[in-house]
Amino acid sequence: MTTANICGSDLHPYEGRASMDPGMVFGHENMGVVEEVGPGVDRIKVGDRVSVPFNLACGTCRNCNDGFTSACLRANPSGQPGAGYGYPMMGPYWGGQAEFLRVPWADFNLLELPAGTEHENDFTMLSDIFPTGYHGTELAGVAPGKTVAIYGAGPVGLMAAHSAVLRGASQVFVVDKEADRLALATEYGATAVDFSQVDPTETIMDATDGFGVDCGVEAVGYQAHDQTGEEHPELALDQLVGVVRATGGLGVVGVYVPEDPQAATEQAKQGRVAFDFGAAWTKGLRIGTGQCPVKAYNRHLRDLIIRGEAHPSKIVSHELPLDQAVEAYDHFDKREDGWTKVLLGPGRSA
Ligand SMILES: NC(=O)c1ccc[n+]([C@@H]2O[C@H](COP(=O)([O-])OP(=O)(O)OC[C@H]3O[C@@H](n4cnc5c(N)ncnc54)[C@H](O)[C@@H]3O)[C@@H](O)[C@H]2O)c1
Ligand SMILES: [Zn+2]
Ligand SMILES: [Zn+2]
Repeated sequence: MTTANICGSDLHPYEGRASMDPGMVFGHENMGVVEEVGPGVDRIKVGDRVSVPFNLACGTCRNCNDGFTSACLRANPSGQPGAGYGYPMMGPYWGGQAEFLRVPWADFNLLELPAGTEHENDFTMLSDIFPTGYHGTELAGVAPGKTVAIYGAGPVGLMAAHSAVLRGASQVFVVDKEADRLALATEYGATAVDFSQVDPTETIMDATDGFGVDCGVEAVGYQAHDQTGEEHPELALDQLVGVVRATGGLGVVGVYVPEDPQAATEQAKQGRVAFDFGAAWTKGLRIGTGQCPVKAYNRHLRDLIIRGEAHPSKIVSHELPLDQAVEAYDHFDKREDGWTKVLLGPGRSA
């Protein structure tokens, strides 16, 4: 392992909002250099520098053949489609916030990177959040000239903003209440909307002449909250349904879970999120959801990095050695000012 990032998704089990077996190793945003290969591996060689997609997939089942590595039918022994590293319900695979990582079906799963150490902090975003942000824009139907509203300026929302601009959107809004994150959204060419200061719906409707945006990306998830911090799992969805124009597209990459025993309401405890579906239906919105199939995008995004077109590392706030992971989780979980994206690595020093 050369780099493993802490992700907003890691906070779900960290906070006890998703249960994980004791002894499991965290870390699904992984990259490194191959130390050893098993007898079934032909393509990948010792010494290769590689990015590890967070989806762990067999490559030959029906869903993998259709490109949906996020819903592999073979990799997760529980029978649930989709497997990953170091995450609840995604199989028994230990994560990469460690010295070493075991990668099953390595020939299929690994993405080769140019040798050396160049672009390390950009390439490390290829395992999850850069493809996930891009996937949000794909589900939302972002294309040249479209207008886009992104809710959530965490790493995923910021990568969605970067992707929307790369895809030629004419206007991109990013909604959050964290000033440091909104400042990064501006650096990626988006218009920041601070929902602790203004009503985001009114702001976006005014800025689009009352028409609304063509595309919406939900990059918040089931812990969406209001400006006082009170959780309302339907809040970001409702606001997006409000600002996306009739027949527009909505990509929901923020995570919603089938059960959440610590949720704010009885309904949400059972994964039932009551959002404005009637309004969404009446508008004829197209809604896409789910885990990102990283392999569908990571090659192209890697090449944008190599050619100097994409700069996902702008969001990195901290690079720390592995043995400071405990403190890093604490700061990141409190969403302390300036703790946007933390990279861990056995070889890194504080
Ligand atoms: N679909 C996938 O494949 C995939 C992959 C990675 C992460 N995710 C999920 O994407 C989501 C975002 O990940 P992240 O790492 O950026 O998380 P994060 O927790 O760092 O960011 C979420 C942001 O949303 C903001 N927010 C909260 N309520 C809001 C509201 N009502 N309106 C606007 N913004 C609001 C928070 O202030 C925070 O900045 C999480 O749910 C994560 O689990 C999904
Ligand atoms: Zn992640
Ligand atoms: Zn498969």
